Parts: sequence; C-alpha cells; structure tokens
Amino acid sequence: MTLIKSVLNESRLFRPEKEFVERANVSGLKSYTALIEEATQNYEGFWARLANENLSWKKPFTQTLDSSQAPFFKWFSDGLLNASYNCLDRHLETIPNKTAIIFESDEGHVTKVTYRELHRQVCVFANGLRSLGITKGDRVIIYMPMSIEGVVAMQACARIGAIHSVVFGGFSAKSLHERIVDAEAKCVITADAGHRGGKIVALKPAVDEAIALDGGTECVKSVIVYHRSVTPVQWFAERDIHWHELIKGKSDVCEPEWVEAEHPLFILYTSGSTGKPKGVQHSTAGYLLGTQTSMKWVFDYRSNDIFWCTADIGWITGHSYVAYGPLGVGATQVIFEGVPTWPDAGRFWQMIERHKVTTFYTAPTAIRSLIKAGEELPLNSDLSSLRLLGSVGEPINPEAWIWYYEKVGQKRCPVVDTWWQTETGSHMIAPLPGVTALKPGSCTQALPGIFAAIVDETGQDVEPGKSGILVIKRPFPSLLRTLWKDPARFKQSYFPEELGGTFYLAGDAANRDLDGFFWIMGRIDDVLNVSGHRLGTMEIESALVGNALVAEAAVVGRPHEIKGEAIVAYVVLKKEIPSSPTEAHALAEKLKLWVASEIGALAKPEEIRFTEQLPKTRSGKIMRRLLRSIAQGNQTLQDVSTLENPAILEQLKKAA
Ligand code: PRX
Repeated sequence: MTLIKSVLNESRLFRPEKEFVERANVSGLKSYTALIEEATQNYEGFWARLANENLSWKKPFTQTLDSSQAPFFKWFSDGLLNASYNCLDRHLETIPNKTAIIFESDEGHVTKVTYRELHRQVCVFANGLRSLGITKGDRVIIYMPMSIEGVVAMQACARIGAIHSVVFGGFSAKSLHERIVDAEAKCVITADAGHRGGKIVALKPAVDEAIALDGGTECVKSVIVYHRSVTPVQWFAERDIHWHELIKGKSDVCEPEWVEAEHPLFILYTSGSTGKPKGVQHSTAGYLLGTQTSMKWVFDYRSNDIFWCTADIGWITGHSYVAYGPLGVGATQVIFEGVPTWPDAGRFWQMIERHKVTTFYTAPTAIRSLIKAGEELPLNSDLSSLRLLGSVGEPINPEAWIWYYEKVGQKRCPVVDTWWQTETGSHMIAPLPGVTALKPGSCTQALPGIFAAIVDETGQDVEPGKSGILVIKRPFPSLLRTLWKDPARFKQSYFPEELGGTFYLAGDAANRDLDGFFWIMGRIDDVLNVSGHRLGTMEIESALVGNALVAEAAVVGRPHEIKGEAIVAYVVLKKEIPSSPTEAHALAEKLKLWVASEIGALAKPEEIRFTEQLPKTRSGKIMRRLLRSIAQGNQTLQDVSTLENPAILEQLKKAA
C-alpha cells in the first residue's frame, strides 16, 4: 500500500504532443468519446463492426454475442476463420516482401524474414505436423527459445487448428510434465538449447525428463527438436524427430483449417490461488480481435513502424504482442533471443538504434534493472527512431516511468502503461497515446468497449477516489473462455456469486482517482508478481513441503527494488533448526535450489526463514498477513488477538 499512497500523490501530467495527436489512429478526445459512446449505446454492434473490419472471415458471423450459457460467453460463434490466415496469408497480396521478423540472436546475428518467407515456413512446418497425424483440437506443447521457429511453431499449430500450449523455457521438467499431462499433449516441440546471456540453456533434457516422470507420459507421440545450438542431445528414435527432417520435402502449400470463432487457439498455464496452475483457454476470433484493436489503439500502429515487444513467447505478452498482434496487422517486428544486460546493459538501446525501432514494449522490472546497471547508457545510442514506449506486467513506479520517458523516450514518446492479464488476452486499461494525458504510475483509463470498474466485496461501485476490487462488468471478445478441463474453477475464480456472478473478477485491487484514472495496487489473492512473472504462493509452498526435510511452509512477498516483489518463505523443518548459522544457511540454499528444480529458477525464494511454528489462527489458518508484515520489516503489527500461538511472534521477528 505504500506504493499506492506515494503514487496517488503523483500530480505530474503529460499531455500528448500536438504532432502525435494529429497523426494518431485515434486522434483527440472527440474520436475517443465517439468510440466510447458507440460501445455504450450499441455494445454488440460496436464489437461486430470491429470484428468485421479487423478480421478476415472465411464465413462471416451472424450472431455477435451469445450469453445463453453465461459466464461461458461466445462471440461471433457461427463465423469461420483461421488465425494463421489472418496473420500471414492476408498480407501476401499487399505486403509479401515486407520484413515480418528481424531476429537478433544472443550473439548478435541478425536474420530477417519477409511475410512471404514466414508464410512459406509456417506452411511447410504445418504440413510436417499434419504428417505426424496432428489434427484440429490436438494439443501441442511448445518449449522453445525465443526464435523465428518458436513463432513458426505457434502459427503452424493455429494453421491446422491444433491447440498450442507454450511453456516458458525457464520452467523445470516437473512443471513441464504437469502441463503436458494436464493438456494431454500429443506432441512437444522443443530445441536442443537456447542461448541467453552468453550461456547455453539446455531444453531437450528437460523434455526427456518431463516425459519420463511418473512412470512415463503416454500421450506424447512425437517430440520435434529444432537444432538451435550444437548441444548434443539424447535421442529416442521412436518419438524424436529433427525439425529439419520433418520439413524435408514438405509442400509449401497448406490449406488452413477453417475453425469456428470459438475454437480454442491456445491454452496458457498461469498461476492462481491453489497449488495447481490454471490452463487459461482462449478462443480464436475474440482473442485475435483484442490483439488487433489494441495494436491500433494503444500502440497506434502505423505501417512503417518497427515494433519490439521484449516478452518471451512463453508468456501472454509474447503471445499477444509477438506471435499474433504484430503479424495480424502486418507489422515488422524485432524478436530477441538474449537478455537485456548482455554483453552489457546497453544491449536494448543498441538494438533500438540498430533496427530503428519505433515502438518499444517492456516490463518495469527490466527498466528498473537497466536504470541500476547504467542510468546514462541510453545516451550512448541513437534512439531518435522511437516514437512510443510501453510498459506491462506490474505497476511502474513513477521514478522508473520518468526515467523511461526522459532517458529512453527523450521526452518525445508517450509511455503507454498497459494493464491486462493472461486471462484478458489483450490490453484492458491503457492510454490511447493520441488522446490520453499520462500520469506516471497510472494505467489511465479503460479502452473503448471495456467496462472496468471498482467495486466492494458485494459488487457495489465504490465512491470515486476509494479503492476496491477491480472488475470488468461486461463480457468482451478477448476474455478467456474457460479453464482447460475445469469449468467449475473458471466460474468460481472469475465470476464469483458474491459479486453477483456477472462481473469478471480480475484479482487485483485498484483505486480510481477523481479524474477517473485507474491505479493498480496489486493482487488480492495469493498470487505474487516477481519480475513481472506471476507465481502462486501455494505452488511454491507445495514445492517446499514436497522436500523430505520440510514439515510446513508459508510463502509471502515483500517489496523488492528491482523485482517488484521478492519471495520470502517461512519454513518449519521436520527436525530441529540447525543451531550453526553456516549449517542453516547451507540448508536454506539447498531448499532454494529445490524450489528452482521443482518449478523453475523464476520461483526460487529470495529468502528462507526457519521457524518452529507458523502463526495460525485458532481455526488453524496460517496468518499470512502477519507474515507479510514481518517479512516487510514492519514493527507495528496488525491485530494479533486471534493468534493461537502468540509466543511465535518473537521468534518470527528474530528470524527476520
Ligand atoms: O496484477 C496485475 C499485473 O499482472 C497481473 C497479470 O499477470 P499475467 O497474467 O502474468 O499477465 C502479465 C502481462 C499482461 C495483473 O493481475 N499487471 C499487469 N500489467 C500491469 C499490472 N499491474 C499494474 N500495472 C500494469 N500495467
């Protein structure tokens, strides 16, 4: 809450420059108000118009929104289309020779592909997938480094109607296994390794381990291996196939599978309040529409832009603003394999200069780490090509915003702070750069057609200026359709009865100031945001108690200068706490590595604190709020009268 208090005192206002407004896709307040009014007065007509204007349909839809099975809403459901056709084929007549992707490898090698060439690669690979018997509705796991091939794999799945589920390369074999099993994947597409920050990160061994776990994973019939590196891999001839062998001799003609608008385009696993990740299921048409409208509205896409979103394809941002959004509008985009700080912390800025990037989209955690590593480094590069900057994943602190605006954008480029989620598929609350005045730290206002509001626990609107629970009151096309194989959890998590059952519950607390601007305050559930990555405290706790030495664990977040939030784990051991600090330290390190091997390095706790007991209420509930306060170093703790074991307080404070 300290962040929100300080950001709410933020009074700086940055109005769009006249020149920007004049050229913007949505230019000035009048055009914006017209969109808002259209959406308010004729909600379905508004979305129908956009779906007709932005998507290419094989068979047009006649019904816009079907609420008969709410909250399982359907959009455009009798229409037929194909996502890959929309991202590739439809550009072949107009811009076949335009560069679609500028890929820069970790070492700095640059490869460019045109729309024609990307289309060819996708068709050939899609035919390869078909030759393995993969058809509409089959699930395919993609566990790849950032690469052109990663995008080709996603697009090829979309082309044949297979449902992809991309797993971030930083997840462990165990996490990969859980996702393969839950999705009942028929195929895994991977690489021998990726290159990041001068290091080789092996991927294929994790796939082998994931498939072998729990006595073997029956569903996977084939593993396609792209050779990015020269890393030797183990080979299982009955199921493994080299990418280059698979595509050999395959035709570059591949008729797209025309799918219903509601056909699942992908499943993307994300963390929730329980130990089990949620398989967020997106539709084809509604999802794609959200990516297209936001490319035009929020990123103010122009045909000569060079767009660069730094997110990995393993996250929703990499789906919407690498694999689908930019290709859908026919943009040229940069894809980068490496990390921002290698070979030095000027890498992003040098790349912006090298590729003449106009639109740059990254996360506050990256911005903060780059400020720390080299506040003045952007000045060494020519950043004059930039015209728009974006931020995503967590609240951006005003200091980082101002630095980004001044040092990177040279006070010329609007900063669009975009609030959205894996579940919403595309931007929800974000500025329109040719309209909205910017306040550092606020994601500003909801996009046209998005009815965001702040309510109390009973679903009633709170007064302006008061904080509460962020909801979206009407369904919108890019919203998730369900949780894979778990419709009950979908309903309960996102459309809870307590709020009336019709509002989409985002899971964030927020405040709306007197100008109607939104300020996101963070999650209201047991979800942490570490370096812009979403992690469930329960997942980390389950991993910890899965260790033979651990009896109980409670995980909380504490503010962290670079990561936003850092993970602090309170651990009760089965045996006594080691009396020697060296031994205790060694054990803590061992448990940190354990969590990294169970979930992935991204979930590794920053700190492990041993305690004899966890603070619990008389009914046995762990008092996380109390642990959070202690982890944050607060001296005055809230009401502890319900604490079953008050003596534990002193020990917990000492453990800090
Ligand atoms: O808490 C919000 C935060 O990230 C959560 C969604 O995480 P994920 O599904 O992983 O998607 C991240 C990329 C879209 C939200 O519930 N969040 C995301 N963007 C912002 C944000 N918090 C504040 N400001 C943002 N711009």
